[in-house]
Amino acid sequence: MRHFLNPLDFTVEELDQVLDLAERIRQNPARYQEVCKGKKIATCFYEPSTRTRLSFEAAMLNLGGSVLGFSSADSSSAAKGESVADTIRIISGYADICAMRHPKEGAPLVAASKSSIPVINAGDGGHQHPTQTLTDLFTIRTLKGRLGNMTIGLCGDLKFGRTVHSLIYALSRYAGIRFVLISPEQLRIPSSVRQLGLEAKGIEYKEVERLEDVISELDILYMTRIQKERFFSEDEYLRLKDSYILDKEKLKMAGPDCLIMHPLPRVNEISTEVDDDPRAVYFKQAHFGVFARMALIMTLLELKEPEEKEGEATC
Ligand code: NCD
Repeated sequence: MRHFLNPLDFTVEELDQVLDLAERIRQNPARYQEVCKGKKIATCFYEPSTRTRLSFEAAMLNLGGSVLGFSSADSSSAAKGESVADTIRIISGYADICAMRHPKEGAPLVAASKSSIPVINAGDGGHQHPTQTLTDLFTIRTLKGRLGNMTIGLCGDLKFGRTVHSLIYALSRYAGIRFVLISPEQLRIPSSVRQLGLEAKGIEYKEVERLEDVISELDILYMTRIQKERFFSEDEYLRLKDSYILDKEKLKMAGPDCLIMHPLPRVNEISTEVDDDPRAVYFKQAHFGVFARMALIMTLLELKEPEEKEGEATC
Protein backbone atom coordinates (compact mmCIF):
# COMPACT_ATOMS: atom_id res chain seq x y z
CA MET A 1 0.00 0.00 0.00
CA ARG A 2 1.25 3.48 -0.89
CA HIS A 3 0.61 6.93 0.49
CA PHE A 4 1.19 10.31 -1.17
CA LEU A 5 2.62 12.68 1.41
CA ASN A 6 5.37 14.39 -0.56
CA PRO A 7 5.89 14.74 -4.31
CA LEU A 8 9.14 12.81 -3.92
CA ASP A 9 7.19 9.73 -2.79
CA PHE A 10 6.81 9.05 -6.51
CA THR A 11 9.73 8.71 -8.90
CA VAL A 12 9.75 11.01 -11.92
CA GLU A 13 8.57 8.06 -14.03
CA GLU A 14 5.69 7.35 -11.64
CA LEU A 15 4.73 11.02 -11.56
CA ASP A 16 4.77 11.12 -15.35
CA GLN A 17 2.52 8.04 -15.41
CA VAL A 18 0.02 9.78 -13.12
CA LEU A 19 0.08 12.82 -15.42
CA ASP A 20 -0.36 10.60 -18.48
CA LEU A 21 -3.38 9.00 -16.83
CA ALA A 22 -4.76 12.45 -15.93
CA GLU A 23 -4.47 13.39 -19.61
CA ARG A 24 -6.28 10.22 -20.74
CA ILE A 25 -9.04 11.02 -18.24
CA ARG A 26 -9.24 14.62 -19.50
CA GLN A 27 -9.57 13.37 -23.07
CA ASN A 28 -12.22 10.83 -22.23
CA PRO A 29 -13.83 11.23 -18.79
CA ALA A 30 -16.77 8.95 -19.64
CA ARG A 31 -14.49 5.94 -19.84
CA TYR A 32 -13.55 6.33 -16.17
CA GLN A 33 -16.95 6.96 -14.69
CA GLU A 34 -17.29 3.59 -13.00
CA VAL A 35 -13.75 2.63 -12.06
CA CYS A 36 -14.29 3.50 -8.39
CA LYS A 37 -17.77 1.99 -8.06
CA GLY A 38 -18.17 0.82 -4.47
CA LYS A 39 -15.10 2.76 -3.27
CA LYS A 40 -15.16 5.63 -0.78
CA ILE A 41 -12.85 8.53 -0.12
CA ALA A 42 -12.76 10.18 3.29
CA THR A 43 -11.83 13.86 3.17
CA CYS A 44 -10.56 14.76 6.65
CA PHE A 45 -9.96 18.49 6.64
CA TYR A 46 -8.81 20.14 9.87
CA GLU A 47 -8.19 23.43 7.99
CA PRO A 48 -10.32 25.48 5.56
CA SER A 49 -10.40 24.47 1.92
CA THR A 50 -12.53 25.01 -1.16
CA ARG A 51 -10.63 23.66 -4.15
CA THR A 52 -8.65 20.84 -2.64
CA ARG A 53 -11.48 19.22 -0.70
CA LEU A 54 -14.15 19.72 -3.33
CA SER A 55 -11.89 18.64 -6.18
CA PHE A 56 -11.07 15.42 -4.29
CA GLU A 57 -14.76 14.85 -3.80
CA ALA A 58 -15.58 15.71 -7.42
CA ALA A 59 -12.75 13.40 -8.52
CA MET A 60 -14.12 10.44 -6.56
CA LEU A 61 -17.71 11.13 -7.68
CA ASN A 62 -16.54 11.37 -11.32
CA LEU A 63 -14.97 7.95 -10.90
CA GLY A 64 -18.25 6.49 -9.66
CA GLY A 65 -17.25 6.33 -5.99
CA SER A 66 -18.64 8.01 -2.90
CA VAL A 67 -17.38 10.54 -0.38
CA LEU A 68 -17.57 11.07 3.36
CA GLY A 69 -15.64 13.28 5.71
CA PHE A 70 -15.48 16.48 7.68
CA SER A 71 -14.47 19.98 6.66
CA SER A 72 -13.25 21.46 9.93
CA ALA A 73 -11.60 20.27 13.12
CA ASP A 74 -14.59 21.68 15.05
CA SER A 75 -17.00 19.29 13.42
CA SER A 76 -14.85 16.21 14.14
CA SER A 77 -13.83 14.52 17.38
CA ALA A 78 -10.59 16.53 17.23
CA ALA A 79 -12.66 19.13 19.09
CA LYS A 80 -13.00 16.57 21.91
CA GLY A 81 -9.27 15.89 21.91
CA GLU A 82 -9.02 12.83 19.66
CA SER A 83 -5.59 12.30 18.08
CA VAL A 84 -5.02 12.03 14.33
CA ALA A 85 -3.62 8.54 14.98
CA ASP A 86 -6.88 7.36 16.54
CA THR A 87 -9.03 9.11 13.94
CA ILE A 88 -7.28 7.42 11.00
CA ARG A 89 -7.65 4.00 12.63
CA ILE A 90 -11.40 4.58 12.63
CA ILE A 91 -11.51 6.09 9.13
CA SER A 92 -9.57 3.06 7.83
CA GLY A 93 -12.65 0.99 8.62
CA TYR A 94 -15.03 3.40 6.88
CA ALA A 95 -13.28 4.33 3.63
CA ASP A 96 -10.82 2.99 1.02
CA ILE A 97 -8.61 6.08 0.81
CA CYS A 98 -8.21 9.28 2.82
CA ALA A 99 -7.22 12.83 1.87
CA MET A 100 -6.14 14.77 4.94
CA ARG A 101 -5.40 18.46 5.50
CA HIS A 102 -4.04 19.57 8.83
CA PRO A 103 -2.48 22.75 10.26
CA LYS A 104 0.36 20.73 11.84
CA GLU A 105 3.30 19.78 9.66
CA GLY A 106 3.67 16.02 9.53
CA ALA A 107 0.12 15.17 10.68
CA PRO A 108 -0.67 13.19 7.48
CA LEU A 109 2.63 11.32 7.96
CA VAL A 110 1.56 10.32 11.48
CA ALA A 111 -1.82 9.28 10.07
CA ALA A 112 -0.14 7.19 7.35
CA SER A 113 1.91 5.32 9.93
CA LYS A 114 -1.28 4.14 11.64
CA SER A 115 -3.48 3.73 8.58
CA SER A 116 -4.53 0.62 6.73
CA ILE A 117 -5.72 2.69 3.74
CA PRO A 118 -3.69 5.05 1.48
CA VAL A 119 -3.34 8.54 2.98
CA ILE A 120 -2.94 11.61 0.78
CA ASN A 121 -1.43 14.79 2.20
CA ALA A 122 -3.86 17.53 1.17
CA GLY A 123 -1.69 20.21 2.81
CA ASP A 124 0.13 20.09 6.16
CA GLY A 125 0.79 23.46 7.77
CA GLY A 126 3.45 25.47 5.97
CA HIS A 127 5.20 22.28 4.84
CA GLN A 128 3.94 20.54 1.69
CA HIS A 129 0.96 20.30 -0.64
CA PRO A 130 1.81 17.52 -3.10
CA THR A 131 -1.57 17.26 -4.83
CA GLN A 132 -1.45 20.97 -5.66
CA THR A 133 1.89 20.13 -7.22
CA LEU A 134 0.33 17.36 -9.30
CA THR A 135 -2.24 19.93 -10.43
CA ASP A 136 0.51 22.44 -11.22
CA LEU A 137 2.63 19.93 -13.13
CA PHE A 138 -0.39 18.78 -15.10
CA THR A 139 -1.25 22.38 -15.95
CA ILE A 140 2.28 23.22 -17.04
CA ARG A 141 2.68 20.05 -19.07
CA THR A 142 -0.68 20.46 -20.77
CA LEU A 143 -0.28 24.14 -21.60
CA LYS A 144 3.46 24.30 -22.26
CA GLY A 145 3.96 20.78 -23.61
CA ARG A 146 6.94 20.10 -21.32
CA LEU A 147 8.12 20.15 -17.72
CA GLY A 148 11.81 20.87 -18.22
CA ASN A 149 13.82 23.66 -19.80
CA MET A 150 12.09 26.66 -18.35
CA THR A 151 12.43 29.56 -15.97
CA ILE A 152 9.84 29.63 -13.22
CA GLY A 153 9.24 32.67 -11.08
CA LEU A 154 7.73 31.91 -7.67
CA CYS A 155 6.38 35.09 -6.15
CA GLY A 156 4.93 36.02 -2.76
CA ASP A 157 5.07 34.09 0.49
CA LEU A 158 7.81 31.56 -0.18
CA LYS A 159 8.37 30.95 3.52
CA PHE A 160 4.95 29.65 4.56
CA GLY A 161 3.58 28.80 1.11
CA ARG A 162 3.47 25.01 1.07
CA THR A 163 2.51 24.83 -2.60
CA VAL A 164 5.81 26.49 -3.48
CA HIS A 165 7.87 24.05 -1.41
CA SER A 166 6.31 20.99 -3.04
CA LEU A 167 6.57 22.51 -6.50
CA ILE A 168 10.30 23.23 -6.05
CA TYR A 169 10.98 19.64 -4.95
CA ALA A 170 9.00 18.21 -7.85
CA LEU A 171 10.31 20.45 -10.63
CA SER A 172 13.92 20.25 -9.53
CA ARG A 173 13.96 16.69 -10.90
CA TYR A 174 13.43 17.85 -14.49
CA ALA A 175 16.31 19.03 -16.68
CA GLY A 176 16.94 22.68 -17.45
CA ILE A 177 14.79 24.14 -14.66
CA ARG A 178 15.76 27.56 -13.36
CA PHE A 179 13.96 29.27 -10.47
CA VAL A 180 13.57 32.96 -9.79
CA LEU A 181 12.42 33.37 -6.18
CA ILE A 182 10.62 36.67 -5.72
CA SER A 183 9.72 37.61 -2.15
CA PRO A 184 10.24 40.16 0.57
CA GLU A 185 13.34 39.47 2.66
CA GLN A 186 11.15 38.16 5.54
CA LEU A 187 9.35 35.61 3.36
CA ARG A 188 12.22 33.87 1.57
CA ILE A 189 12.11 30.07 1.16
CA PRO A 190 13.03 28.04 4.26
CA SER A 191 16.64 26.92 4.44
CA SER A 192 15.59 23.25 4.29
CA VAL A 193 13.94 23.76 0.89
CA ARG A 194 16.90 25.79 -0.31
CA GLN A 195 19.36 23.10 0.70
CA LEU A 196 17.46 19.94 -0.19
CA GLY A 197 15.37 21.19 -3.09
CA LEU A 198 17.87 23.47 -4.82
CA GLU A 199 21.48 23.38 -3.66
CA ALA A 200 21.85 19.63 -3.17
CA LYS A 201 20.61 19.16 -6.73
CA GLY A 202 22.68 21.96 -8.25
CA ILE A 203 19.59 23.82 -9.48
CA GLU A 204 20.12 27.29 -10.83
CA TYR A 205 18.20 29.93 -8.87
CA LYS A 206 18.27 33.54 -7.78
CA GLU A 207 16.41 35.48 -5.12
CA VAL A 208 15.06 38.95 -5.79
CA GLU A 209 12.58 41.33 -4.19
CA ARG A 210 11.15 43.20 -7.18
CA LEU A 211 8.86 41.38 -9.59
CA GLU A 212 9.28 44.11 -12.21
CA ASP A 213 13.00 43.37 -12.47
CA VAL A 214 12.54 39.76 -13.55
CA ILE A 215 9.06 39.30 -14.99
CA SER A 216 10.31 39.50 -18.59
CA GLU A 217 12.63 36.46 -18.10
CA LEU A 218 9.90 34.08 -16.98
CA ASP A 219 8.18 31.21 -18.77
CA ILE A 220 5.89 30.83 -15.79
CA LEU A 221 4.96 33.28 -13.07
CA TYR A 222 3.52 31.40 -10.07
CA MET A 223 1.90 33.93 -7.75
CA THR A 224 1.03 33.06 -4.15
CA ARG A 225 -0.99 34.53 -1.32
CA ILE A 226 0.70 35.90 1.79
CA GLN A 227 -0.28 33.17 4.28
CA LYS A 228 -1.99 35.27 6.94
CA GLU A 229 -2.91 32.32 9.16
CA ARG A 230 0.74 31.31 9.62
CA PHE A 231 2.05 34.69 10.80
CA PHE A 232 2.95 35.14 14.45
CA SER A 233 2.36 38.89 14.32
CA GLU A 234 -0.63 40.66 12.80
CA ASP A 235 1.46 43.81 12.30
CA GLU A 236 4.02 41.91 10.26
CA TYR A 237 1.23 40.48 8.10
CA LEU A 238 -0.25 43.94 7.54
CA ARG A 239 3.16 45.26 6.54
CA LEU A 240 3.73 42.49 4.00
CA LYS A 241 0.26 41.67 2.72
CA ASP A 242 0.35 43.86 -0.37
CA SER A 243 3.99 43.22 -1.26
CA TYR A 244 3.01 42.13 -4.77
CA ILE A 245 0.06 43.09 -6.89
CA LEU A 246 0.11 41.87 -10.46
CA ASP A 247 -1.97 44.23 -12.57
CA LYS A 248 -2.35 44.83 -16.30
CA GLU A 249 0.45 47.38 -16.29
CA LYS A 250 3.00 44.99 -14.79
CA LEU A 251 1.80 42.14 -16.97
CA LYS A 252 2.78 44.18 -20.04
CA MET A 253 6.39 43.44 -19.14
CA ALA A 254 5.86 39.66 -19.25
CA GLY A 255 6.55 37.63 -22.38
CA PRO A 256 3.71 36.68 -24.74
CA ASP A 257 3.82 32.99 -23.67
CA CYS A 258 4.40 33.48 -19.96
CA LEU A 259 1.77 31.51 -17.99
CA ILE A 260 0.35 33.21 -14.91
CA MET A 261 -0.46 30.55 -12.34
CA HIS A 262 -1.76 30.70 -8.76
CA PRO A 263 -2.90 27.85 -6.50
CA LEU A 264 -5.75 30.12 -5.32
CA PRO A 265 -7.37 31.54 -3.26
CA ARG A 266 -6.05 34.94 -4.27
CA VAL A 267 -6.46 37.93 -2.05
CA ASN A 268 -4.92 41.06 -3.60
CA GLU A 269 -1.91 39.68 -5.40
CA ILE A 270 -3.53 39.38 -8.82
CA SER A 271 -5.81 42.18 -9.84
CA THR A 272 -9.09 40.96 -11.39
CA GLU A 273 -8.31 42.98 -14.53
CA VAL A 274 -5.67 40.31 -15.31
CA ASP A 275 -8.27 37.51 -15.42
CA ASP A 276 -9.17 38.01 -19.07
CA ASP A 277 -5.58 37.95 -20.29
CA PRO A 278 -4.97 34.68 -22.19
CA ARG A 279 -1.80 34.16 -20.14
CA ALA A 280 -3.81 33.98 -16.89
CA VAL A 281 -4.46 30.27 -16.39
CA TYR A 282 -5.26 30.01 -12.68
CA PHE A 283 -8.92 29.10 -13.13
CA LYS A 284 -8.01 26.48 -15.71
CA GLN A 285 -5.35 25.22 -13.27
CA ALA A 286 -8.02 24.71 -10.58
CA HIS A 287 -10.14 22.71 -13.03
CA PHE A 288 -7.18 20.57 -14.05
CA GLY A 289 -6.87 19.62 -10.36
CA VAL A 290 -9.85 17.31 -10.69
CA PHE A 291 -8.16 15.22 -13.44
CA ALA A 292 -4.90 15.11 -11.50
CA ARG A 293 -6.70 13.89 -8.37
CA MET A 294 -8.76 11.33 -10.32
CA ALA A 295 -5.49 9.92 -11.65
CA LEU A 296 -3.93 9.90 -8.18
CA ILE A 297 -6.90 8.11 -6.60
CA MET A 298 -6.81 5.45 -9.35
CA THR A 299 -3.06 5.02 -8.91
CA LEU A 300 -3.12 4.67 -5.12
CA LEU A 301 -6.07 2.28 -5.27
CA GLU A 302 -4.19 0.32 -7.97
CA LEU A 303 -7.19 0.37 -10.29
CA LYS A 304 -6.82 -0.87 -13.82
CA GLU A 305 -7.37 1.21 -16.89
CA PRO A 306 -10.98 0.51 -17.98
CA GLU A 307 -11.66 -1.14 -21.31
CA GLU A 308 -12.43 1.12 -24.21
CA LYS A 309 -16.20 1.16 -24.76
CA GLU A 310 -17.70 0.72 -28.18
CA GLY A 311 -18.72 4.01 -29.81
CA GLU A 312 -16.98 5.94 -27.07
CA ALA A 313 -16.79 9.68 -27.73
CA THR A 314 -13.62 11.55 -26.88
CA CYS A 315 -13.44 15.23 -26.17
C1 NCD B 1 -3.29 26.57 -1.20
C2 NCD B 1 -3.06 25.92 0.15
O1 NCD B 1 -4.03 25.50 0.81
O2 NCD B 1 -1.91 25.84 0.52
N1 NCD B 1 -4.63 26.46 -1.62
C3 NCD B 1 -4.99 25.37 -2.35
O3 NCD B 1 -4.99 24.27 -1.88
N2 NCD B 1 -5.29 25.56 -3.65
C4 NCD B 1 -2.78 27.95 -1.30
C5 NCD B 1 -3.19 28.96 -0.27
O4 NCD B 1 -4.02 28.68 0.61
O5 NCD B 1 -2.69 30.07 -0.37
